[in-house]
Amino acid sequence: MKPTALITGASSGIGYHLAKWFAKAGYDLIIVARSKDKLLSLQTELHDSNVTVIPHDLSLPNSAYKLYEKIRDEGKTVEVLINNAGFGLSGKFEETSFETQQKLLHLNMVSLSNLTRLFIDDIIHSPFKTVPNGILNISSMAAFLPGPHMAAYHASKAYVQWYSEALAEELDPSGVTVTALCPGPTQTEFFKRAGNDKIMSSFRDAPEDVAREGFLGFIKGKRVVFPSMNIQAAVIFMKLLPSKTLAKIAKNMYTR
Ligand SMILES: NC(=O)c1ccc[n+]([C@@H]2O[C@H](COP(=O)([O-])OP(=O)(O)OC[C@H]3O[C@@H](n4cnc5c(N)ncnc54)[C@H](OP(=O)(O)O)[C@@H]3O)[C@@H](O)[C@H]2O)c1
Repeated sequence: MKPTALITGASSGIGYHLAKWFAKAGYDLIIVARSKDKLLSLQTELHDSNVTVIPHDLSLPNSAYKLYEKIRDEGKTVEVLINNAGFGLSGKFEETSFETQQKLLHLNMVSLSNLTRLFIDDIIHSPFKTVPNGILNISSMAAFLPGPHMAAYHASKAYVQWYSEALAEELDPSGVTVTALCPGPTQTEFFKRAGNDKIMSSFRDAPEDVAREGFLGFIKGKRVVFPSMNIQAAVIFMKLLPSKTLAKIAKNMYTR
């Protein structure tokens, strides 16, 4: 028997590459997203690993619990939870969709928290002692500054950051690793889905590099992982500035 890693948002971008890393490290996988075809194609690609595909929308009320029930119905436990699924919403606030904001908040914060609560007993009581058990949450550089024209997204990632860091401290005596991966701009579907593909288009990291750093950071038991020195330096610098200045910088970046 092998430990199982549940990866949300594995159909593209950072989650797709995280799935490859965890498969390579010998974990069984449960991969989740809405796009069934893309998940099945990843399952075929990872044919040497035991991969369970669960197409599921995590932006809907009670969706985390329904996923938990599906996994229990399969008779599986989860030793590593990778809360990666998430999206952004950019644009003039009063023109953004009420429904889309609601889904963003649900996916980025509520489902992430509910999955964490639902699987924490599996994680704490993992019988696999030779590999790390724990939670890898995909936060963002956006967690460290207010984001005018992307307010809900930045605020949701600030939630993910503090939630992760608090749990890392609280669960440390149980031997559970909680890692917050904080990518900067990364070349995925993210910006197109958020409604503005021009944002920082010449400064984006490759998703395979971001996933590699996240995976390695988790395996090493790190609490906060920046995928590059540049992103880490930018966050250190941001912490020195007043939040009003940061908001102006972000507004300029998003409305350019
Ligand atoms: N790209 C960046 O610049 C960047 C920077 C910092 C942090 N991040 C974070 O990194 C994470 C991964 O994003 P990415 O950049 O890899 O973007 P991506 O390519 O758009 O991937 C997002 C993943 O989430 C899944 N997803 C979206 N809505 C979902 C829903 N309602 N239910 C279940 N799954 C859903 C998508 O699959 P389906 O569409 O098939 O459901 C996809 O697999 C996100 O949390 C994002 O906030 C990204």
